[in-house]
Order: sequence, then C-alpha cells, then structure tokens
Amino acid sequence: MRAAITDSYGDADVLSIAEIDRPEPGDDEILVKVFAAPVTTADWRLRAAAFPGIMALPGRLMMGLTRPKNPVLGLAFAGRVVARGSDVSRFRLGDPVFGFSGAGAHAEYLTVKADGPVALKPKAITYEKAAAVPFGGVSALVFLRDFAGVKPGQKLLINGASGGVGAYAVQLAKIMGAEVTGVAGTDNLDLVRALGADRVIDYRKQDVSASGDLYDVVLDTVGKLPYTKARRILKKTGRYVPLEFAGREILQALLAGLTGGPKIVLAVSGDKREDIEHLARLLETGELRGIVDSTYPLADIAAAHRRVETRHAKGAVIVTMEDREPSPDQ
Ligand SMILES: NC(=O)c1ccc[n+]([C@@H]2O[C@H](COP(=O)([O-])OP(=O)(O)OC[C@H]3O[C@@H](n4cnc5c(N)ncnc54)[C@H](OP(=O)(O)O)[C@@H]3O)[C@@H](O)[C@H]2O)c1
Repeated sequence: MRAAITDSYGDADVLSIAEIDRPEPGDDEILVKVFAAPVTTADWRLRAAAFPGIMALPGRLMMGLTRPKNPVLGLAFAGRVVARGSDVSRFRLGDPVFGFSGAGAHAEYLTVKADGPVALKPKAITYEKAAAVPFGGVSALVFLRDFAGVKPGQKLLINGASGGVGAYAVQLAKIMGAEVTGVAGTDNLDLVRALGADRVIDYRKQDVSASGDLYDVVLDTVGKLPYTKARRILKKTGRYVPLEFAGREILQALLAGLTGGPKIVLAVSGDKREDIEHLARLLETGELRGIVDSTYPLADIAAAHRRVETRHAKGAVIVTMEDREPSPDQ
C-alpha cells in the first residue's frame, strides 16, 4: 500500500511516498481503508521535532531520538472497515468509521483497536469533514469541559478561534451554553461568527487584552496570548487555559497558585472513545460541523504540512487517498 513516510526529523521535504506492507488486523482490531486523514499541528510538531520549550528533550525521548518511532504519521482518519479480527463484534465489514489512530493514518490502510476511540461516521457527513473532527473536536471538548470547567452563561474568550482546535471550541462552547468571544484575523471573522460566536475580535486591529471586558475563561489555542496579558481580562475567579505551554507557564501556574487570582490550568487532552462517540452524535444532529481548510492528495502531503505550519489554517488540513469513495454530499 502507499503511505507517506518520514525517516528523519526536519522540514516538510523529509516526507516521501513509499510502498509499504499493508497491516494485518489482530484479533481485537479492524482494518480500515483510509479515505481521508488530517495533517494536524501534532503531525507538524512530530515531523519537525518542534516540541514546545522544555518538551524538546522529553519529546524526543518519547517520540524517537533522531526520527519519529513510527515512520507513518497521521493520528486521525475517516474510512471504511474492510476486515476485522476474530474477537471484533462492535463493527461490521463495510461500516464507515472515523476516529483516532495514534499514528499511521497517512496511508491507504490502517489497523485500530475495535474498542478504541473510533465511531461510526454519520452517513450525511463527508469523509473529509469527518476526518477534520477528531483532533480539534476532542481537544476542544476536553479542554472546555474538563480543564476549563465551562458552565452555561459563563463568558469565554477563545484566542485562535478559526484554527484546528479553535473552530471546534467555538461550536462546543456555544453548545455548552457559554457566551463566546472569538479572536481571529480579519479574513476569518465571518467564519468565527458563522460557527456561533456572539462577538469577534480581530487581533490584527485590536489588542485583545485592552478590551476592558472580563471573562470566566480565556482559552488560548495558538500560544499568542500570554498569561501576563490574559490576566488583565480575567475575573479573579477566572481560568487561563493555554493549549501551548512551556516552562514559563508552569512557573506562572505555581506562582498564581500561591498568590491567588486567575488560575492557570495546564493539561494535555486524550482520545477517549466516549468523546468521539459524543462528537459523532453532534455531527449526526447537525449541531457540530467538520471544518476543512483545504484538501491535498496524499502525494502532496508535504504541501499539506507546509499549510499547517503557517498557523493560519481555518479548521483542519486534510489529505485524501487516490482510491477513495465519493462522499455523500459531493
Ligand atoms: N495540550 C494539548 O493536549 C493539545 C491538544 C491539541 C493541540 N494542542 C496544541 O494547540 C495548538 C493549537 O493547535 P491548532 O491545530 O488549533 O492550531 P492552528 O490550526 O495552527 O491555529 C491556527 C489559527 O490560529 C489563528 N491565529 C494565528 N495567529 C494568531 C494570533 N496572533 N492571535 C489569534 N489567533 C491567531 C489563525 O487565524 P488567522 O489565520 O486569522 O491568523 C488560525 O485560524 C498547537 O500548538 C497544538 O500543538 C495541544
């Protein structure tokens, strides 16, 4: 099968397309024919060893010292079940599925645990839009619900509201009943409004931290709104929740814990099955939309990585396989 592989850390040119063996499903696994998979900021970080701050060494120790341990990147996918292990009863052959793979989704076939973070793809949703959801959707859900503890009626500011995580954070925060202010650049303000934000701020024209408003939660998805600025617009009981953090934020979190004032919440999201199933239900009812910035054939995966690296993608960047089924709404 064809796959995008990387045999060293480096710029997007380290990626190449190769023929590799198709994986065989174990007893508790399904074999998925992949139709679409996102290239996420996590894939860019892993390909470039761009682990933030103090994570530089631990990142390499965990992911591979000189190159990614798994040469095929791709942590999420959408596709169809084409084989299953002898112990699998959760999925049938032919089921359309989407979810997390951990790695290996930038390939024509993929094996995943049948009881893992995988769900049936809602029929009316394209494979591209389904593949756009797991990474940003589950991260946004976990950060808002579990780390920020968002409650109905709370005032929430989302910095980077049009990105891979932000586009879902806006939609999910509205579903949770929050009052949402979304921050993005000029070209993306209409998208952020369309996703449900009550107010938008153009960071190119206005200093977000000088708005005079006070929020219960500031979620910074792009690492551009440091705590020193965010605290000016947070209530005393508020929470600053950065998705990108390093040594500085760890120190600030300790100090904020001692001195009082807005709390800093530092955490990493996971990939639970019930969360992807929850998002599948929201896609089914139309409450949640998959947001696709752009699609590239697998052969052009380096261009997809470069697009992600700009940090100006709107939602998810997707690679599609040559031999894929037409999606329902195409
Ligand atoms: N800790 C965890 O568990 C976890 C989980 C998931 C992701 N992450 C991390 O979270 C980060 C966010 O990921 P992502 O995929 O959402 O990023 P992304 O897709 O690259 O974010 C891009 C968005 O950010 C906006 N943006 C760029 N500069 C901005 C600025 N100065 N102010 C406000 N918005 C700005 C862009 O809007 P414009 O084009 O209008 O500029 C664009 O829509 C990544 O670093 C990722 O590694 C962490």
